[in-house]
Amino acid sequence: MKADICVLPGDGIGVEVIDATLPVLEKAARGFSLEFRHYPAGAQHYAKTGDALPEATFASAKAADAILFGAMGWPEIRYPDGTEIAPQLDLRFRLGLYAGVRPCRAIPGVPLPLADARAKEIDLVVVRESTEGLFASRGKGKVEADREAHDTMVITRKGSERVHEFSFRLAARRKKRLVTCVDKANVFASMAFFRKVFYEVAQRHPGVRANHHYIDATALDMVRKPWEFDVMVTENMFGDILSDLTAALIGGMGMAPSGDIGDDHALFQPCHGSAPDIAGQGRANPAACILSGAMMLDWLAGRTKNEALAQAARRIERAVDEVFASKKATPFEFGGRAGTREIRDAVLSNL
Ligand code: NAI
Ligand code: MG
Repeated sequence: MKADICVLPGDGIGVEVIDATLPVLEKAARGFSLEFRHYPAGAQHYAKTGDALPEATFASAKAADAILFGAMGWPEIRYPDGTEIAPQLDLRFRLGLYAGVRPCRAIPGVPLPLADARAKEIDLVVVRESTEGLFASRGKGKVEADREAHDTMVITRKGSERVHEFSFRLAARRKKRLVTCVDKANVFASMAFFRKVFYEVAQRHPGVRANHHYIDATALDMVRKPWEFDVMVTENMFGDILSDLTAALIGGMGMAPSGDIGDDHALFQPCHGSAPDIAGQGRANPAACILSGAMMLDWLAGRTKNEALAQAARRIERAVDEVFASKKATPFEFGGRAGTREIRDAVLSNL
């Protein structure tokens, strides 16, 4: 079996971590093969051509079996309205990638910022609704007479139902089997509706526990007792913020993988951006991107019913875990001296 992978390295360290990930995926591939096709998109491409996401790139992303994405955006390169180039948002909206899946698992050996010993047990997943919410206003916000600005939150039944359904199915395959709806239902009609649909969907999943938590209290408990959570489903903007916080809990952006998953397409990328502060220095930790690659293989395994893909995903995760457990290569982020290449090589040698 051969899978066609559309590779979009993008900008800054996106290019560097993708370069480190492809050889790992290749080495792990047994019982299947991967064909990588690279396409241009991103802020630097926009600066050169005036096009952030060429139609040929979009068409190949749509036709591929899966998309592997580095990072896109560059603070100095902007549209005339002052906003940044962000083709990842266009891809989510245009390909219907409604479930932003951001696992947060403490890897033994990675220094954790929480002093409580239970931090080692952190194993949760944020599912960020990724096609509506406050982001529905992207490109449509209005500033009136330099006096007042509006961005509108949109929550639909269809958008909520599918992301809740996804979250319950995900939780059914996990140990704790718990889904928490994270919202602000005490203040906003849109959020009360999001929660109402959540409990309707919960009815269809009697084997999974369901509860809810306000976003502000969740911020508190993410620091106080994050080990109590399992799957957390939330609105787009809340999920954007919450998932950076959960990344910090397990060692930072360089450790946080993600998948943007829809019914027909899926894109996998590290949670981090292009990191202009360290770009071009070989200092980026590629673990987040490599683990995103493993998530991609896992998703492809589910689609194709090819168990070899799932086994390769597990091998990659174990190889990454061993790098940190054995302190074989400690990234700059954790006070070590291992750059992108050293970490890649350590993962490859474990494989
Ligand atoms: P960022 O995630 O690029 O960087 C935040 C901090 O984390 C920086 O100090 C950076 O050095 C560090 N960092 C990130 N990834 C790392 C890694 N793999 N290893 C070691 N350290 C790492 O976020 P920032 O600085 O807010 O945004 C930079 C650019 O990236 C902006 O143009 C932004 O719009 C874009 N961006 C793109 C995303 C995407 O492509 N999905 C996501 C977030 C930001
Ligand atoms: Mg973000």
